[in-house]
Amino acid sequence: MSYPEEKLTRFCILPWGFMQVHAGGMMQCCAVSPDIEQGDFLIDYCQKEDKNEEPFDSIGLQMMRKGLMTGNLRPMCRNCFFVADERITTTEFEKRLKAYLCSRNRGIDVDNEDLSKVHAYYWMAISFTNRCNLSCIYCVQSTQKNTNPYYKMEFPYEYARMTLELFAKQGIDKLSTCVEGEATLYPYWYELISEFRRNYPDLYLAMTTNLNRKFSDDEITLLAKYNELDVSIDSMNQGIYAELRRNGKLELLLENVEKIQAKVKELGIKGPSISFHTVLSDRTWQSLEDICEYAFSRGIGVFVGNYEKRSNTLAEKEGLVRPISELSYDVQTQVFDIMQKVKRKAEESNTFITFQGDILSKVKKNVEVNYNEFEPYDDREIINRFIEQYHGGKVGLHLAYAYDDDNISHEGILIAKGEKLLLKNLDLENAVVREIEIYKDGKVSNRYGQKVKVGYRKSISIKDGVLEYTPSYGNESIQSIVLEIF
Ligand SMILES: C[S@@+](CC[C@H](N)C(=O)[O-])C[C@H]1O[C@@H](n2cnc3c(N)ncnc32)[C@H](O)[C@@H]1O
Ligand code: SF4
Ligand code: SF4
Repeated sequence: MSYPEEKLTRFCILPWGFMQVHAGGMMQCCAVSPDIEQGDFLIDYCQKEDKNEEPFDSIGLQMMRKGLMTGNLRPMCRNCFFVADERITTTEFEKRLKAYLCSRNRGIDVDNEDLSKVHAYYWMAISFTNRCNLSCIYCVQSTQKNTNPYYKMEFPYEYARMTLELFAKQGIDKLSTCVEGEATLYPYWYELISEFRRNYPDLYLAMTTNLNRKFSDDEITLLAKYNELDVSIDSMNQGIYAELRRNGKLELLLENVEKIQAKVKELGIKGPSISFHTVLSDRTWQSLEDICEYAFSRGIGVFVGNYEKRSNTLAEKEGLVRPISELSYDVQTQVFDIMQKVKRKAEESNTFITFQGDILSKVKKNVEVNYNEFEPYDDREIINRFIEQYHGGKVGLHLAYAYDDDNISHEGILIAKGEKLLLKNLDLENAVVREIEIYKDGKVSNRYGQKVKVGYRKSISIKDGVLEYTPSYGNESIQSIVLEIF
């Protein structure tokens, strides 16, 4: 086995570039459930006398950063659903990290400082409240909102003001006013964000919201002055929407979107870039086209989020939602086709669709894994039925060929020890086959590096269109058997 010369790591600079703070004080450098304490903003900053001490380089954050820099990734980074799974060498990582830190102009001496102890945020996010008006079944609110006091926490007004000032001082480009909970429920949301908008008119203001409240005209005006609104919707089907986003009303959401768009027109302003946020799962993929059709026709983009299994949710406890990656090959193929289609439609309609992390390529990989060593090129029914019923095959059961001592090729189905071939719907009563035994390494007899024994041809019977075949594996030296098909 050969090893890469250098350790590989995942490319992610969020621990240096992004920070989100929950209303309960929890700090997080990304949206993935943390496996390490990264800091408590209320204790480490709001309640501290010395406001010159910043809370952004806690031991936990340093460990997250070190993990990415060295390739000794924390489990959460290894299993991350949030960013694309781009693997690079640690040297390349360091190069890209330094380039990022220099680009932020925060006076960091990238060649001499310990880079696990520095940050240069471009984006920060705050939840002023953990409260929510809905109980979406895949969100922690579904089990926690009525039992866990953490989900009733709210920033005191003064803390919220000082936080916004500290964030602005970081030289960020973007502020998001929501992490969890529903930001627009916070009693000072309107007042604080209106003030922030006036003080920092050029700072990009974003929010993910369920838009499931009746808003005053002033509040609609404030929403129209955001730069980005990411509206959680999941489904255009009323029934599925209500099932997933419990207590939510689809009509209210759509009405609010219309009001915001009308306000933008009335004020003659650019208005926010609006996207519909749908969490892709077995419950929502069938609505994706409808959401896109509705959204694209109104200049609204679509954000397709990856479903994260969270143990303390109703969906997980009762097995109500499954991620796409766990669905059958056929369904994943359909999802992939739909994703391709809506991507084309977004381009045609001059809007956008964003797939979080690398959902699209992950589904593509699942769909495209192909163990078969050749494609069928004639009408041999068994070979063609194999492709229909096993698609790309699997480890130990796939189309394969072997060369014998005379370099004659034999094509068929490789059936590893312990595997059984089962083909249905054959329009045959028998078939002529033979076993090609391929022996283990060591006694190579031809230039293709295999020692091969060609068996006798035999006729096997097929009962009611079903062929079941398990090869004999008569001695221990046989590595694999290809069932040649005539
Ligand atoms: C936590 S919510 C907070 C903002 C607001 N309450 C809302 O729903 O728009 C932010 C986004 O995370 C999504 N979300 C919640 N639970 C999730 C999960 N288990 N996996 C993936 N996304 C999830 C929601 O659908 C929503 O779009
Ligand atoms: S869990 Fe994912 S998003 Fe979070 S720091 Fe690790 S790699 Fe980045
Ligand atoms: S609206 Fe947002 S915060 Fe509220 S339950 Fe749904 S996903 Fe969770």
